[in-house]
Parts: sequence; structure tokens; C-alpha cells
Amino acid sequence: MEIFIGTEADCDELGAREIVKQIKSKPDSVLGLATGSTPEGIYRRLVEKHKNGEVSFARVKTFNLDEYVGIPESHVCSYHYFMDTNLFRHVDIDPNATHIPDGNAMDLNAECRKYEEMIAQSGGIDLQLLGIGPNGHIGFNEPETPFESLTHVVDLTDSTINANARFFESHEQVPRQAVTMGIKSIMQARRIILVAKGAPKAHVIMRAIKGPVTPKVPASVLQLHPNVLIILDHDAASGLTDLSK
Ligand code: GLP
Repeated sequence: MEIFIGTEADCDELGAREIVKQIKSKPDSVLGLATGSTPEGIYRRLVEKHKNGEVSFARVKTFNLDEYVGIPESHVCSYHYFMDTNLFRHVDIDPNATHIPDGNAMDLNAECRKYEEMIAQSGGIDLQLLGIGPNGHIGFNEPETPFESLTHVVDLTDSTINANARFFESHEQVPRQAVTMGIKSIMQARRIILVAKGAPKAHVIMRAIKGPVTPKVPASVLQLHPNVLIILDHDAASGLTDLSK
């Protein structure tokens, strides 16, 4: 596990540079993408790099980690809307090559199976970008999610509903369920980059990186992956005292 600590701007630049490097080494890369406030700066820089002619997404395929159940794709809080406004509409990616779970599918379990099949058919994820929830969740894999889990429907915990309420008009409007890639789906990616920013993430980052590998802290599973880069701003890194691990 490699750990980078820097300013927020350094984190955004490094995250974007790693993605550009991946696409340059394999123009038809399959990217696993994340939402939340953390990767916004990375996407802004990717858009700049695309506009400067540094990178083309023309042959790239993407799979997003997750989506809420039961809100329209056009809803400003949906992850479809997030990806479109933060990245997809600003770059030359083929919209048919972008994939986000359908949280309005009639049969959500069938949608989950289909999503896994599509990832497999694409050859698997080359580079997976991750944020982390305050309770250690990755994607929407809440504490105690089995490490063997594939894409599935999840009941969101109160902690996550509270944390994500800031994006909605009211707490009541936060969906109670989501579709998320599972821990195993994430761990199958060939390379993983987890980004965390801000003091509220310091404690969970310390537990994820230095604590025991346990489903109680879903992100701790990353300690078992052979190719992980953790990008932290100084505040998120403030709980780490010994980085020798
Ligand atoms: C949501 C997403 C996660 C994300 C997390 C943290 O719950 N499902 O993928 O990592 O929020 O969000 P933020 O980056 O805004 O702290």
C-alpha cells in the first residue's frame, strides 16, 4: 500500500495524473469511478487536462460504484447527474461506454447481476477510484458487508443517511437504499486509488490503514490488495502516526 499526503490541490492533481497515466498506457482502459465531494477536484482537473489536449476518453469505458434506489436519473442528487455534470459531458467519452447501476430497475437483483456481467465482459476494471464514508464504507458497502459481496442492493445505515443528507433538501429525502458494487467487485480491480480529505475522515482513515482488516471497517480490506494508492490531504492523514506499515 502506497500512501501520499499533501495539500488538497496536490491530492486532486495526483489523482488526475494517475488516471491520465492509466489511460495513456491503455487507451481503452476500464475505469471504476466514484462520486461524493472528494473526487470532484480530480474530475475538474481531468476535464482541464482533456481540454488542454493531454488526454482523450474516446476509447475509455467506465463503471460507477453505486447509485441510489428510487430517485430519477435527472435528480440533482443522483449519481447519474453527478457524473454527467462533473465529468462525462465535458470530455469526449462515448455515453454508451459509461455505466452506472440503474436504481430504478424493476428487478434490482437482476440489475445487480447484469452489472457484474458487464464489468466482466469489459475485461474487468483497470483502475478503481474510491472515496470513503465516515463509517469506513467504500461504494455503499456499509460496515459488516461480507468481503465476498458482489454488486447488490443495500439498506443505507443511519450514519450514511445523515452524512449524505447535506446534498438533499431534507434528511427525509435521502433514499434509504442503494445499488452498489460489492467489496469483491472492488477488490477485483487491478489498481485501486482511495482518496480522503478533511479532518472528519482522519479517524476512519487511521482505522482503515492501520487497524485490523475487518468487515467492521470495509475500507480496511484494501490492506489485502496488492496495488493500492491512498491519497490523503494533511487533515485526513492527521490520525496516522506511523506510516511504516
Ligand atoms: C457516498 C458514496 C461513496 C463516497 C462517500 C463519501 O456515500 N457512496 O462512494 O465515498 O459518499 O463522500 P464524500 O467524498 O462526499 O465524503
